[in-house]
Amino acid sequence: MRVAFLGPPGAGKGTQARELAREWGVPHLATGDMLREAVAAGTRLGLAAQRYMEQGALVPDDVIIDLMRERLAAADATKGFILDGFPRTIAQAEALGKVLAETGQALGAVVFFDVSEAELLRRLTGRRVCRQCQATYHLVSAPPAKTGICDKCGGELYQREDDSEKTVRNRLEVYTRQTAPLLDYYRGHSLLRTVRGEGPIDGIRRAIREAAGDAR
Ligand code: AP5
Ligand code: MG
Ligand code: ZN
Repeated sequence: MRVAFLGPPGAGKGTQARELAREWGVPHLATGDMLREAVAAGTRLGLAAQRYMEQGALVPDDVIIDLMRERLAAADATKGFILDGFPRTIAQAEALGKVLAETGQALGAVVFFDVSEAELLRRLTGRRVCRQCQATYHLVSAPPAKTGICDKCGGELYQREDDSEKTVRNRLEVYTRQTAPLLDYYRGHSLLRTVRGEGPIDGIRRAIREAAGDAR
C-alpha cells in the first residue's frame, strides 16, 4: 500500500491516516507532524521551519524533500506508507516520483479529500490535538470524554498555533495556489481518486479503502 492523502487543511487527512496506517500495517508519514516535533525539540530542522509554519506558509521544497528522502529510506517505509501532507507542490511530487523510482517503487493512488471551505474553517478553528499521541478532536463534533484530556492516552489537548482564524485563511489560500495544482498533475498520471470528505468518519474511511484499492 503506497498511498498519498491530498487535501486542504482540515480535510481529515490526519484523522483517517492514523487509523488506516494501523489497519494496513504501514507507517503514517505526516510532514506536518514531523515538523511540529522538530520545532518542539528545537532541532535545526525545527528552527528552519518554524517561521513558515507560524504564518501558514509552506516550508521550502528543498528542506521537505531532504526530510522525506531520508524518511522514505528507513526500513519501515520500504513495504508501504501513507503520506499525509506531502507532496504539496509540483516540485515535491516530482522529487517523490524520482526517490521512489530509484528503488523500483511507485505510488499506487493519490486520494483527494473533497471538503467545502465553510466546513474546513469550522473544523480547524474547533480542533484540539493530543500533545502525546497526536490524536485529533473537535470541540463540537468530536469532543473528548473529559475536557482537555485525550481519550486514548490521557495526554493534554492543545490548540495548534496555526489554527487561529487568520492563519487558517492564509493556509487555505496557500493550498489553493501551491497545492491544488497537484490535482491535475496526478489526474494526468491516472492516480487521482476523489473521496467526499464530509459526513461520518467511518463512511469516509470505507470510501478511502475502496479508493486506495483495499478490497476488505
Ligand atoms: P499540516 O500539519 O500538514 O497541516 P494541514 O495540511 O494544514 O492539514 P491539517 O493537519 O490542518 O488537516 P488534516 O487534513 O490533517 O485534518 P484533521 O484530520 O486534523 O501542515 C502544517 C504546516 O507544516 C504547513 O502549514 C506548512 O507550514 C508545513 N508543512 C507540512 N507539510 C509540508 C510540505 N509538504 N511542504 C511544505 N510545508 C509543509 O481534521 C481536522 C479537524 O476536523 C479535526 O478537529 C477533526 O476532528 C475534524 N474532522 C475530521 N474528519 C471529520 C469529519 N468527517 N467530520 C467532522 N469533523 C471531522
Ligand atoms: Mg494533519
Ligand atoms: Zn493522546
